[in-house]
Amino acid sequence: MYTSKTGHTEELAHCIRDLFYEKKIEVRLFQIEQFPLQDLSAFDGVIIGTYTWGDGEIPGEMLALYQAFEAADVKHVVTGVIGTGDSFYPHFCGAVDAFRDMLYVHSRLAVTLKVEVALQATDFARCQKFAGVFWNKLENSVSHHLELI
Ligand SMILES: Cc1cc2nc3c(=O)[nH]c(=O)nc-3n(C[C@H](O)[C@H](O)[C@H](O)COP(=O)(O)O)c2cc1C
Repeated sequence: MYTSKTGHTEELAHCIRDLFYEKKIEVRLFQIEQFPLQDLSAFDGVIIGTYTWGDGEIPGEMLALYQAFEAADVKHVVTGVIGTGDSFYPHFCGAVDAFRDMLYVHSRLAVTLKVEVALQATDFARCQKFAGVFWNKLENSVSHHLELI
């Protein structure tokens, strides 16, 4: 799920979503307002997309998600964080870092990706790498989970 004020993070989220589609991997894309927070622990994998606000801060609309990850049983959920920011600010993509640090503790954090403002052609390979690393961790995680059952 993602949030985006001026469209940069939305474009990044669409790019990652399309890479999974190309591999015939089923993904669902939610704007944060549409995401069913109460079902968080039912997902095998979740990728969070966020811009950064204020002084390196998480946007207000993402705070409930942040708190849900802290409170819910999500130890099995493979997570990734993507974000756009502007390195003009002292804390570039601070919201990505904040989610990363929390998800490292509470979930199975796989990978993060920061993009400077708008996606450039040179970011495409980085998006592919992100999707590949995330997918590998998810596959390992799901098969491990099945073995235990
Ligand atoms: C008031 C304001 C504060 C911002 N603060 C930060 C910041 O601390 N760190 C950062 O990396 N980017 C910061 N940005 C830049 C945005 O995160 C960046 O433009 C981002 O690409 C916007 O994403 P969106 O198009 O998905 O809304 C700020 C932008 C505004 C308008």
